[in-house]
Amino acid sequence: MDVFDAIYTRRSIRKFLDTPVEFDKLVEVIKAGSYAPCAGDLQNWRFILETNRDRIRSMYHHTLEQEAFTTATAAILVVAELDAAEKFYGLRGKRLYSVQNCAAAVQNILLAAHAQGLGAVWIGAFDENRINDEYKIPSVARTQAIILLGYPDEVPKERHVKNVWFLTNFHRWGLKYEHPHRVTHTFADEWTHQRQVLKQEVSSFGQKLQRKLNRNGSEETTTGDGARGTGDTADGTRGVSGERKGGVKGMSSAAADAGKEYFLQARATAKTFLDNLKKEEYRGRAATKRLSTAKGRVPTTSEKKSVRGQKRA
Ligand SMILES: Cc1cc2nc3c(=O)[nH]c(=O)nc-3n(C[C@H](O)[C@H](O)[C@H](O)COP(=O)(O)O)c2cc1C
Repeated sequence: MDVFDAIYTRRSIRKFLDTPVEFDKLVEVIKAGSYAPCAGDLQNWRFILETNRDRIRSMYHHTLEQEAFTTATAAILVVAELDAAEKFYGLRGKRLYSVQNCAAAVQNILLAAHAQGLGAVWIGAFDENRINDEYKIPSVARTQAIILLGYPDEVPKERHVKNVWFLTNFHRWGLKYEHPHRVTHTFADEWTHQRQVLKQEVSSFGQKLQRKLNRNGSEETTTGDGARGTGDTADGTRGVSGERKGGVKGMSSAAADAGKEYFLQARATAKTFLDNLKKEEYRGRAATKRLSTAKGRVPTTSEKKSVRGQKRA
């Protein structure tokens, strides 16, 4: 499972099979946790592994009676050593970095568990004092999370994840684009590729049709290159045009006419599409230029309007 598979398919699992998790797998997931990034490389996280089912079940009463505690076969407590972080970073280290370090470790653990076919859930709702008492956590430390693990006994429903472009702002808070490729340019590459693919398709379709029309006695009256599927003649029909005088083998005259008509329509649609793509790319470059010149300052009202105007266009 590659990293993207693991990220996109991981879900919280809250119901587990009776099968215990192999010790090596549990050690592996903790190891994955210890590879998380952390402020100043302090690694001020500590892990407590619990595999005793009765003790896991007894946590149920200190965790808002969450059902997951009744079936989990393993639990990992992720604890931050606050004094270490405070020593180096003061209050920020104690209150923020410690939380963030452990959160990064938890995410690694969840992904590693999932990659090994295990189910897991991050538990944040628990009575800290009771858990601290139970596990002899010193006052210089804080239990940040409990992770329940086991082999999954449920398939969660599909999750609705907010659209990436809804979540992404450009250059400053609140600046979003309905068509982000206009500013990122990355989409322009893709669109250029799509345009080429489409052109190719239209062209090969035209050539095929032309060959059929030409075959077996049909006479061409075009002046241009009859084999080309796309072209730029004034009547816009080069490549497939030609008054077909003879019959087309295996094709009735009506079918051939219909085919030609279809091709012309398809090409007109494709042309409009390609023109629109060109316009999009042009606007993309213009918007990027405007934004890069506006760097470091809040866009003026007219700049905002112009971006909005593009959205409407
Ligand atoms: C800080 C934090 C606390 C959480 N606490 C709980 C919890 O107490 N119980 C629980 O069942 N899930 C808990 N979760 C899991 C979330 O409910 C879950 O990740 C979220 O609904 C998204 O679903 P998914 O993990 O299946 O993608 C917690 C998650 C985080 C990040």
